Amino acid sequence: MLQQVNGHSSGSAAHSGESLREDLQEFLGGEAPLQQLDDLTKVNPVTLETVLRCLQARYTADTFYTNAGCTLVAMNPFKPVPQLYSPELMQEYHAASQPQTLKPHIFTVGEQTYRNVKSLMEPVNQSIVVSGESGAGKTWTSRCLMKFYAVVAASPTSWESHKVAERIEQRILNSNPVMEAFGNACTLRNNNSSRFGKFIQLQLNGAQQMTGAAVQTYLLEKTRVACQAPSERNFHIFYQIYKGAHAEERVRWCLPEGATFSWLPRPERTLEEDCFEVTREAMLHLGIDAPTQNNIFQALAGLLHLGNTQFADSGNEAQPCPLVDDAQCSVGTSALLLGLPEDHLLETLRIRTIRAGRGRQVFRKPCSQAECDTRRDCLAKLVYARLFDWLVSVINSSICAAPDSWTTFIGLLDVYGFESFPNNSLEQLCINYANEKLQQHFVAHYLRAQQEEYAVEGLEWSFVSYQDNQPCLDLIEGSPVSICSLINEECRLNRPSSAAQLQTRIESALTGHPRLGRDRLSPEPSFIVLHYAGPVRYCTRGLVEKNKDPVPPELTRLLQQSQDPLLKVLFPADPEEKSQEEPSGQNRTPVLTVVSKFKASLEQLLQVLHGTTPHYIRCIKPNSQAQAQIFHREEVLSQLEACGLVETIHISAAGFPIRVSHRNFVERYELLRRLRPATTPGHHGLYPDGGRSEHPPCTEPATLQGLLQEILHALPAPLHCGRTKVFMTDSTLELLERGRAQVLEQCARHIQRGWRRHRCRTQARRRRAAVLIQAAVRSWLTRKHVQRLHAAATVIKRAWREWRIRMAFLASEELDGVEEKHSSQAPCSPSSSPLPLAQTGLQGAITRLWPLGLALANAAVGVHGFQRKLVVFACLQLPVGSPRSCAIQTAQEQAGVLSIRALPQGSIRFHCRKSPLRYADTCPGPSPDSVTGFNQILLERHRPGHV
Ligand SMILES: Nc1ncnc2c1ncn2[C@@H]1O[C@H](COP(=O)(O)OP(=O)(O)OP(=O)(O)O)[C@@H](O)[C@H]1O
Ligand SMILES: [Mg+2]
Repeated sequence: MLQQVNGHSSGSAAHSGESLREDLQEFLGGEAPLQQLDDLTKVNPVTLETVLRCLQARYTADTFYTNAGCTLVAMNPFKPVPQLYSPELMQEYHAASQPQTLKPHIFTVGEQTYRNVKSLMEPVNQSIVVSGESGAGKTWTSRCLMKFYAVVAASPTSWESHKVAERIEQRILNSNPVMEAFGNACTLRNNNSSRFGKFIQLQLNGAQQMTGAAVQTYLLEKTRVACQAPSERNFHIFYQIYKGAHAEERVRWCLPEGATFSWLPRPERTLEEDCFEVTREAMLHLGIDAPTQNNIFQALAGLLHLGNTQFADSGNEAQPCPLVDDAQCSVGTSALLLGLPEDHLLETLRIRTIRAGRGRQVFRKPCSQAECDTRRDCLAKLVYARLFDWLVSVINSSICAAPDSWTTFIGLLDVYGFESFPNNSLEQLCINYANEKLQQHFVAHYLRAQQEEYAVEGLEWSFVSYQDNQPCLDLIEGSPVSICSLINEECRLNRPSSAAQLQTRIESALTGHPRLGRDRLSPEPSFIVLHYAGPVRYCTRGLVEKNKDPVPPELTRLLQQSQDPLLKVLFPADPEEKSQEEPSGQNRTPVLTVVSKFKASLEQLLQVLHGTTPHYIRCIKPNSQAQAQIFHREEVLSQLEACGLVETIHISAAGFPIRVSHRNFVERYELLRRLRPATTPGHHGLYPDGGRSEHPPCTEPATLQGLLQEILHALPAPLHCGRTKVFMTDSTLELLERGRAQVLEQCARHIQRGWRRHRCRTQARRRRAAVLIQAAVRSWLTRKHVQRLHAAATVIKRAWREWRIRMAFLASEELDGVEEKHSSQAPCSPSSSPLPLAQTGLQGAITRLWPLGLALANAAVGVHGFQRKLVVFACLQLPVGSPRSCAIQTAQEQAGVLSIRALPQGSIRFHCRKSPLRYADTCPGPSPDSVTGFNQILLERHRPGHV
């Protein structure tokens, strides 16, 4: 990619200067293409001018978010854009398969962090650093992100748990109005300026659901309670109670309508932030009940009255300062509201007690008017700071999840932006110091770390020079000598020090430092620090005192004696604290200075940030008048420079912003081994080949390196493999993700196909089994049926045989009866004569021949009619001449004859067996004794006269 950048410049060098200018003009001239550029790294060439034009074009087209490599640039629209933060849009970004492909938005960053937590890729915890000038939109952005997480990381849908989830998410969101009411104020640069730094840790459980949150605050600007810059206001909460209290509350808090308070400047101006009901409602949700709220607001009213306590000069050091005009009344009201004895309060404000000597004798010394004012202001600051810290702890106890109920977190850091006023003091020094630290974190993380990592990983890389702010940090916090160490030393030594002396000490101790400057024309003792965002002049007057932030022990003792339940909680009678606040002897300087406390908390914050994957949102203010549609190029330009955006763009575009450890890379993209590079040259697409590549996925290489090489082999994308990490550009990552999605889709298809095949096979097997069962049942049924038929046939057969035997028997009986009758009748017949012997022998021969005749007569073919009769007659030797006396019937004519048999014993007898069925036909006569068929023939033959 660097080559591309370099290539561009070398390519452009080849062109003539004229044509390049023309090209650039053509490129930069049209607003339309510029406003469509979602990423400032794609502006070509990357210069402040082109970046500025691009941002302006987008701002004019109401496109407020733009990527700048790893950073999101958020322009303040200074007008409501509801559709830009709707729940539907949140869902759209949450549901998108690749939110990066959608338009740049804070929801892209939100979704990216959420997915990173889900992916469990180290470091799992995420942080979003929202930075920018005062009024640029940091708090707004943080609020929107919290709403986004409350929607996407909502807990399960079961009714009961959903209620709980709603409560926790709502409570987390409710912390915003409460903290803003107590910690924000209207300044010259922002009507809702956060006067404290905030890091909110959104805690997620194993299922990535928001189970709680924890808030950490930094450096509340407590001086604002007692001292407001011209045209600025006190914290919003004072205006809220002043304007929003009910009549009855006004009486209780001694806040009559139209009352004036010196610590409540510009009360006539009403802001949308002055909504008391919203704060009350949110406090109630956070578990701060109405009586406690009443107690809080009463104490705040007490502070307002305390501010009206004005002292006059006594003119006599031995006398305490008198109160001006109505101040006595104010002291009384304040003491009443704070639960303090009035005279004790007044005495504490006006008289200093000093313990000295061996016997720790107490000396009472009246304070000067200035000292009285300081003590009064100190009392107010002390109460307000403790109240604020207590509120934060109450909020935390309400929204914080049990330690074992969350595993990961997403941190949102909303810190005051870089500040530079004509006169800057310790507050600005701390704020700018914090911004330097964050800038260094950014530099370390994205710029220096990026380049160093390339070197460590063995990647060839041409370094781009970038602005490193380490020298500036060395100047502020370095060891052994730095601005902070010198100021702290002044506090520790507790020696009298003038502003001019401090300036000289700083200049002499840090002389020649490249980041330290001096304004020789300034009438005020001061020093200049050349911050990464520009030079800032700090006045040394009051610096040491502010750093000491001394709290006279009498004040704490007084507040510990308060009868007010809230103040009792805020100022418990702690013996340890007592001994701390009453340092004995020479060691009276407080151990912890403001700077050292701030430094410690900042280091703690950075430690947390170092353990997370950081994301950056740079908020930009298009104009200082907070007007919509106005783009002041100079102001935006200075902010772009201040946040090092152009440097970032250069390096992000040139390098490989994405790096993944070998293990994580292999874990995520192992399935890409199924892909093979496109065969078409110049085409960078990835083609799944259905697992038929040269490197079959089934062959498992033994080592991580082997797997990695295999994956890299399968990819056509330009990937750079370092010693422990794989480096790539955004576009490569996109390509890999697309390929992964393809493979996953293909795998899903495989599974679907396999499942369908399995289902079809199972169904076919079942069908076959069903057919088999059906066939078996049918055959069984058929067999049964046949068996039954068979049995029935056997019965019929048996009956038929019986019947036939009976019929044969009857027939033989019939024949025997006829024969006997004939033989008994024959001798008696006059016409018959006994047969001669020879004739009897011939008769036997004939008898033997007759079956042949019968056979001929019964033949289906051959002789017919009379011929047949003749044959029969010849065979049976019947007299042919008397056909009338003898009728010949054959089986053909008389169906039913089954067999003919001759009986032995020399008698001419034939047994004719006929079908019983036919018998009935052929023997229609009523008498069973009647003779038919062959019997009849034979009978005829035996009749006398026939033979
Ligand atoms: N995205 C936005 N849409 C509409 N208005 C916005 C947006 N962002 C910021 N603003 C407006 O700009 C004002 C200032 O924003 P905000 O309070 O977030 O600034 P800040 O960076 O937190 O300033 P400070 O450092 O002073 O706290 C808001 O009160 C709001 O009116
Ligand atoms: Mg803010």
